[in-house]
Parts: sequence; C-alpha cells; structure tokens
Amino acid sequence: MITFDEATGIFHLQGKQTSYFMQKNEQNHLFHLYWGSRLAKRLPDYVLKEIKRASYIADTDHIKEYKLERLPQEYPAFGNSDLRKPAYQLTFQNGTQISDFRYVTHEIIQGKPALKGLPSLRESIDCETLKITLHDAYQQINLSLFYTLFEEADIITRHSELENVGDDPVEINQLNSACVELPTSDLDLLHLSGSWARETHIQRTPLSQLNYRVESTRGSSSHEHNPFIALMEKEATETNGDVYSMNLVYSGNFEATVDVEMQDAVRMQIGMNSTLFGWQLQPGKTFVSPEAVLVYSQHGLQELTHKYHQAYQNYLLPKKFAKKERPILVNSWEACYFDLKEEALLELAQSSKDLGVELFVLDDGWFGHRDDTSSSLGDWFVDSQKFPQGLEHFITQIKQIGLDFGIWVEPEMISEDSNLYRQHLDWCIEVPGRLKSYSRGQFVLDLANTEVQNYLIETLSELFQRYDIDYVKWDMNRSMTETGSNALTSSQQKEFYHRYMLGLYRVLAKVTEQFPDILFENCAGGGGRFDPGMMYYMPQTWTSDDTDAIERLAIQEGTSLIYPAISMGAHVSQVPNHQIGRVTPLNTRGVVAMQGNFGYEMDLSKIPLEEKLEIKAQIEQFKKIRSTVQLGTFYRLAVPVKDNAKAWLFLDEQQVVVSYVQIHAKPNSPSKRLKLTGLNPEGLYLLPNGEKRYGDELMAFGLAIDTVKQDFYSQQWILQKVEDE
Ligand code: GLA
Repeated sequence: MITFDEATGIFHLQGKQTSYFMQKNEQNHLFHLYWGSRLAKRLPDYVLKEIKRASYIADTDHIKEYKLERLPQEYPAFGNSDLRKPAYQLTFQNGTQISDFRYVTHEIIQGKPALKGLPSLRESIDCETLKITLHDAYQQINLSLFYTLFEEADIITRHSELENVGDDPVEINQLNSACVELPTSDLDLLHLSGSWARETHIQRTPLSQLNYRVESTRGSSSHEHNPFIALMEKEATETNGDVYSMNLVYSGNFEATVDVEMQDAVRMQIGMNSTLFGWQLQPGKTFVSPEAVLVYSQHGLQELTHKYHQAYQNYLLPKKFAKKERPILVNSWEACYFDLKEEALLELAQSSKDLGVELFVLDDGWFGHRDDTSSSLGDWFVDSQKFPQGLEHFITQIKQIGLDFGIWVEPEMISEDSNLYRQHLDWCIEVPGRLKSYSRGQFVLDLANTEVQNYLIETLSELFQRYDIDYVKWDMNRSMTETGSNALTSSQQKEFYHRYMLGLYRVLAKVTEQFPDILFENCAGGGGRFDPGMMYYMPQTWTSDDTDAIERLAIQEGTSLIYPAISMGAHVSQVPNHQIGRVTPLNTRGVVAMQGNFGYEMDLSKIPLEEKLEIKAQIEQFKKIRSTVQLGTFYRLAVPVKDNAKAWLFLDEQQVVVSYVQIHAKPNSPSKRLKLTGLNPEGLYLLPNGEKRYGDELMAFGLAIDTVKQDFYSQQWILQKVEDE
C-alpha cells in the first residue's frame, strides 16, 4: 500500500515485509527517512528533527541550522548546500549547473505505467505507482520520481523523468534511476565482478570513508561488473542480517556508486554511466531514465535471492516463456567451431536425439563464407559450400530426426569482409578520420541510426520467417571503442551510447513481438550482457563461455544471487575443458549444468559407448527434475568446508533436488554432512537409498557426504515428498 500523510508530509510505501518512507518538509524538499523492515503502527515524523546539525556546513534558504548536507536526501541535487554526490546533473543555456527542485504535487496510480522505449518490470494486479513531481522554477523544468510498489513480491522499482517546460534546451549530464541514504557506514559492499569467462564472482568489501564506483564503460553492461550492488550489515550472512540492493534494468553503460561521506552517512545510487553520457533536452521534451529494482532483505542473501527470482520470473521474463520448461539442447560450437559439415552435423543431431536431447542449435559459421572470425557478419544468408542443398533442407532433416531447430546470429556486428560493409560504409560505429579498432576481427553496427535498426528488423524478420526456427541465440561479441555515429549531429554525439541502447531495444521489441513463439537466448561472449534489460526480451542467457564445471561453480553462484535458474544457460562440455584445460568427471559436469537450462556443447556422436550411456542417464535424470529446477525455489547451502565445495538445492511440492560438488580431495577427511534448508519440517521425504527422513531431520542433520579420494567429485540426491504413514 502507498499512503501520503498530509499532516507530516510522509509517504509510506508498505510492502509485505518492507517499509520505505520519504518526507516532504515545509521548504518542499524531499528527504529519505527509512528503508527496511516493515513498520505498521506509526510514521517516523521525528527522524529529521533528531538529526544533529554539524558545523562548517552551509545553511539553506537562509534558515539557520537548516543544513541539507546533514539530512538524508531522496534525490540529491547538484550545487546547493549539500555538497555530496548528486543523483543528477544538468547544464543550462547560461552555462550554469545549479538546480533547485521543490515538491509540487504527487499522485498514486493503480498499476504501473510503461517506460517509453525501455524495458521494465511488467504490471501486476497488486502494484501501485507513486509519482512525485518536483519543479525548478528558475529553469522551468519538471522532475518526476516514480516508485512502483509490488506489494506481494515486496520490491520497489524506481525511475526518474525530466520534462523541459521552458524555452531553452537543457543538457542532461546525469540522471540516476535511484538513490537511497543509509544512516551508517558500518556495512559491506557486495557486487558481482569478473571478466570474459569469469563473470559474476561475488566480491564483498567493507566500507570506509571513500567513494565506490561499480561501472561499465564498454557499451554493454559487461562481463566486468553486473549492474547490481548491495550493502549488507557486517554480520549479514546467507540467512541473517539486513541487505539493501539495487539492480538496473539496462544493458548499456551503467554506474552504481556508494559514497561514504564525512559524517559517516552512506549514499547508494544506480543509473546510466554519467562519464559517457550527455543529452540535449529540447523544450517540450521528456527524458526517461532506465528503471532500478530495489530489494531489501531482513534475512540475508537467501531472502534477497528469493525476492529477485520471484519478481523476475513473474514480472520481467517474457510471459510466454517465464513458466515454461526449457528444451535440453545440443550446441554445435564446442563440437565443431567453424568446421561445419552437413553430414557430421546430422550425425551429431541423430546421436543427440538418441540420447534424449530436444533441440539442435547451429552456432556460428553457417552464413556468408565464415570459416573464422575474420568475415561475413552482416551477411545473414546461408553458406552454400557448407549447406549445398540450402538451410531449409538441413532444417527439414533435423526436424525429421525429431529435434527442434535453433540458430545463432550476431546481428549488431559487421565484418569488414562482408557485402553489408561494402554496401554501407557509413553504418559502423566510428569517428570519421580516426582509425576504428577491430575486436574479434569485427566492427559494431550503428544502432543509433534508425536506418540500421530498420534494416536489422527487416533482415531478421525475413530470416526467421523463411526458416522453421524454434530458438535463436542472439550474440554480441565485442566492447564498443572509438564511438561515434554518422547519423547523429555533433551536439548529439554524447547521446550515442544511450541512443544505441534505445535502438537495440526497439529492434528487440519488434523482432520478439513478431516471433512470439521463438525462444530467444541472450549471449554476449557468454554473460557480458546478463542483465534485466535483456531478460525483458529474451527469457534465457548463456551464462559464460567458460564451460568448466569448477569455474562455473563461482559464476553460477554469483548469477544465482539475482537471476533465476530458468534464465541461466549451463551446458556439459568435453574434457580437457576448452577454456582452461581441466579434466572433471562427466557426472560433475552434469550436476553443475543441471543448475539451469541444461544442454550439451560437445560432439555426442564421437564419444565412447559408456559415455553415451552416462549421458543418456543424465538426460533422463534432468527430465525428472527439470520442473523443480526451472519452476521451483532455489537455496544455496552451507558446506562443511567453505571454499572447497559448493552445494545448492531446488524444491517444489513434490521433490527436493540437492547437489554437492567437492573441489579438492583432502587427506584423512572425516565424514561430513550436508544440512538441507527450506524443507517442510514435518514433511516426510524418501531418499534415493529407500530410507525415509523428516524435513526437520534433514535440516538438522542433513545428508551424509561420500568421503572419496577424488578431486571434483559430486553427488546429487532427489528426495521425493511422501505421505506420512
Ligand atoms: C561467443 C559465444 C559462444 C559462441 C561464439 C561463436 O563467444 O559466447 O557461445 O556462440 O561466440 O562465435
């Protein structure tokens, strides 16, 4: 419920377990009072009054002791008497940058208005939106702050809009999506960082008086940092303590900042990256920031994860696929790379079908004359050397084998050696006169150019119309460098990165609307754009190009903090592993890949019989647990020896799936147990060995872990819920 109390000027966003308070004072400034566990009885109208005034800080509005810098701001301005980090920055016609927004009005709307041109959480029956409008009378600009409360899911989404109601253009230098102040810095910052093939590793850093910045300037949300930050109580764990977090529904450059100021208060913000952003807001126009999702948990990371997973599965993923079990696939990439031969591919497809696979994915190399990374991106027509009888013929055979058919594209890219490049020399991202860098041998198409967007919509529509395609892997394999657009004026060049994203979202919206039955998988060299923005259009993402089971433990654990298993691609691949050379048992590769959308990335036609039999059993096993993994509830489990094992659990009404992976064998190890969580204490569960245990026992004592002299050993248990005798 969202309420406003006239007498105190307090807004209360009251979720199932969370309260969020703001207060407007007599000066019409808007302050942040509280974000935390749900308060039911009274409004905290004493908080602002009780904040001690420090000296050496300017008075505001000529009111003695009215010091904005000491007060928690809801959406802090630049250049007034609060000299901390602002939430936005504008430059006016006269060159000045100071603004002064004061509350004018607000409205509480049932539902949730869409964000024009941008992905955002979808409306639900139990959501309400608060729109607070502020105004800068000197510069004639309106600033609207939007808050949508999803009461049952217990999350809040926020974004900001600026409307130029004056006569002169205004330059927007920054417009954050959300800002929250917390009264103490006795907290840890948690974020997800890494690189290509090493995405989403959890980092936890104690705060001190510093400015922290988690960001991407790569043109995509990036492998380096996910657009997510959390602040946690120092004592907070998986199951205990306060956690405050923000995740940005945006796939381009972002910044998430935490500023610990001199009096120890903390400002936490998220939005588009201000270093690489500028926007000319013309009179009469409105600019819309991306949306931030704010999740508070009173019970550590587990509750945080559950709130994100439920919200994303219910309100973010495309409806048609959000609750639909995903096909088990085989992908040609690590099996064949560019060496695609029709006969071998059909053998791979037949063997895969025999083992229980459901979808065949033809990865890179099927188009133009693409035998390596140096050519053909942009030429989305079939390579007749590789498929002499055409792609229709090949697809027909795949379908006759009994498999669905999927295809790889990388539509945002262009190779210098392509017909598209020769025809449209000005369609690349570039700064005329400057050398543009190759990365993986390719350039980036200028999606800020409407002509390029239209071309992509047409080309992809033709491709998906012409062939019988069930699945598309949409890849994006480089960062943006030497950015500029031939289609933009000089004053618009700073708008490039955001215009690119708006262009991409337009293309994605059109193509996915036109082909609602195609299952789209988002990929950017693995998880380089694993973010809620892409997830709005594409129900699953290839988590990482690293398919090594042990490397995947940390990657998938980090990803699982926010994103549900049904959005996470995980495949079994060959050994020695192609990315890091490690040899792990097939069972462990299977157990780890069963944490998401399961599949194979290896030549299943060229493996020994015993491996085939093991894979057949693996697929049968996954089919039994698929609905629990993809539609059930997920828990990370505590392991007996931290850092040397990972364990997790999925459950639904029928069964519990428990997975455990040991990294290194240790000498003279006593036998250990794995405690389960989330079970019904009084529920009775049938173990794979035929014994029965109650939920309370399984949570108190857990399951016995095998003591084995083997690195990378794993165990998986399926426990059936049974009737109590
Ligand atoms: C990227 C993807 C891989 C594969 C290759 C093909 O690296 O992440 O899965 O599709 O491109 O070139």
